[in-house]
Amino acid sequence: MTAEKLRLGVNIDHVATVRNARGGDNPDPVRAALIAQAAGADGITAHLREDRRHIVDADIDGLIAALTVPLNFEMAATHEMQQIALRHKPHAVCLVPEKREERTTEGGLDVAGNDNALAAYIAPLADAGSRVSMFIAADRVQVDACRRIGAPVIELHAGAYADAWAEGDWATRDNELAKITDMTAYAVSLGIEVHVGHGLTYDSVGPIAALRQVSELNIGHFIIGEAIFRGLDPAIQEMRRCMDAARA
Ligand code: PXP
Repeated sequence: MTAEKLRLGVNIDHVATVRNARGGDNPDPVRAALIAQAAGADGITAHLREDRRHIVDADIDGLIAALTVPLNFEMAATHEMQQIALRHKPHAVCLVPEKREERTTEGGLDVAGNDNALAAYIAPLADAGSRVSMFIAADRVQVDACRRIGAPVIELHAGAYADAWAEGDWATRDNELAKITDMTAYAVSLGIEVHVGHGLTYDSVGPIAALRQVSELNIGHFIIGEAIFRGLDPAIQEMRRCMDAARA
């Protein structure tokens, strides 16, 4: 299975970070999402954290009402978040760790250590029509656990790869890229769709975008930062260009 077009999900959390630094309404993450949509984003990603440090409940209401592209709703596997997801029925729900004890050593969700509970947790979300994805480290034990619980999608955590790139640690970068490459192929062989995200930049996105079995990248912080200098629409279009160039 080879993903045809590599989708770009733009994460607008950090527009809300800037807004919340002052309180009030500006800048509005829903407005950013609509600009991202017009700029060619294939989806919008937003993480409603338990502490509401960036996106807040009203932002999710606004995104659901305004978007025509799919919303990828990132959340912790809590009862409160499950109720919110069941109310909104977003296109996708991506489960992410928020607490230290939910994480594997590499920082993704520890699906292998919680598979029975997670299987029960995701069942109503899937019944409601959301595609459930697990944000995991590129680790075979975690991929196997995702298969066991019937997750149709995984998102591989690119943080260690992105950090190594930023630090100029090429040996670690290559090692992390190899893990993402191998676990993408393995997951796809099991029938699981693969997304990748966290920490990607114009420089680091290329080798990931070149992996033809990857279906979607979710990118936020770098794009929102770059938007300060060149505007949101051009910042997104440049990411799209980097992705397309790598895949071509
Ligand atoms: N994917 C997931 C699952 C995330 O939790 C995040 C935000 O940390 C991202 C992608 C986007 O990461 P970034 O903002 O570093 O691009």
